[in-house]
Amino acid sequence: MEEERQKGWSVPGSWDRNKAPISQALSPYLISSSRVLEVASGLGIHASHLALEHPHLQFQPTELDPQLIHYINDTAADHRQNHSGSLTNLSTAIPFDVTRSSDWDTLSSLNGPFDLVMTNNLLHISPWTVTQKLFEGVGSRTDLFSGAVKVAIYGPFRRNNVFSGPNDERFDASLRERDVAWGIRDLEAVERVAIDNGFELKEALQMPANNWELIFVRSNSTRKCI
Ligand SMILES: C[S@@+](CC[C@H](N)C(=O)[O-])C[C@H]1O[C@@H](n2cnc3c(N)ncnc32)[C@H](O)[C@@H]1O
Repeated sequence: MEEERQKGWSVPGSWDRNKAPISQALSPYLISSSRVLEVASGLGIHASHLALEHPHLQFQPTELDPQLIHYINDTAADHRQNHSGSLTNLSTAIPFDVTRSSDWDTLSSLNGPFDLVMTNNLLHISPWTVTQKLFEGVGSRTDLFSGAVKVAIYGPFRRNNVFSGPNDERFDASLRERDVAWGIRDLEAVERVAIDNGFELKEALQMPANNWELIFVRSNSTRKCI
């Protein structure tokens, strides 16, 4: 199931390798948060890993693909059966398409407000409109997200339209071959969308394998490094 589901997304197994670095990069933000919304949870590896590491947090996984939603919920149920009392802070995964405004309405019936929105490996494997709708949704739905909500985005990015190296260039070409609307995004273009929706880039952390963890905040916080 895992191999099949992940086929074509990225490097097989990378979700398992990157969960620890992502957890480390997000740690300062997770410590000060209470409710996390994950967009495009995939197999739910990151949400369940972070939920186990941060029991004070409530995680809400979401996914576009109904089969993956079942997978996340079944895996969490299995885990709870084998480890009684654990993962109670991982909510039932729900269907969520960033581009559907009615799906944002569904979120409002959950126990918000969320103070952190996390998404991993989504922006390059979806059309550009997904990036725009993500920031529009979080930026405009003040009922769903706290005032100082953060948006944490993990994945590969170009800098000023330059690839980090030949591997990323090849990866980008392979993505565009499969879907012309996909492709590695320019970090500065993502930042412009964020700014247009009332966010600023607080941190851009370089991660293993030429990936980035970008932390956007809806406030006047100062950028730490880039
Ligand atoms: C490369 S996978 C990443 C999964 C997981 N976050 C990870 O890092 O392993 C991309 C995910 O984005 C989801 N996705 C694509 N378009 C989407 C959309 N419009 N709204 C929400 N999720 C979307 C896909 O269903 C898929 O699960």
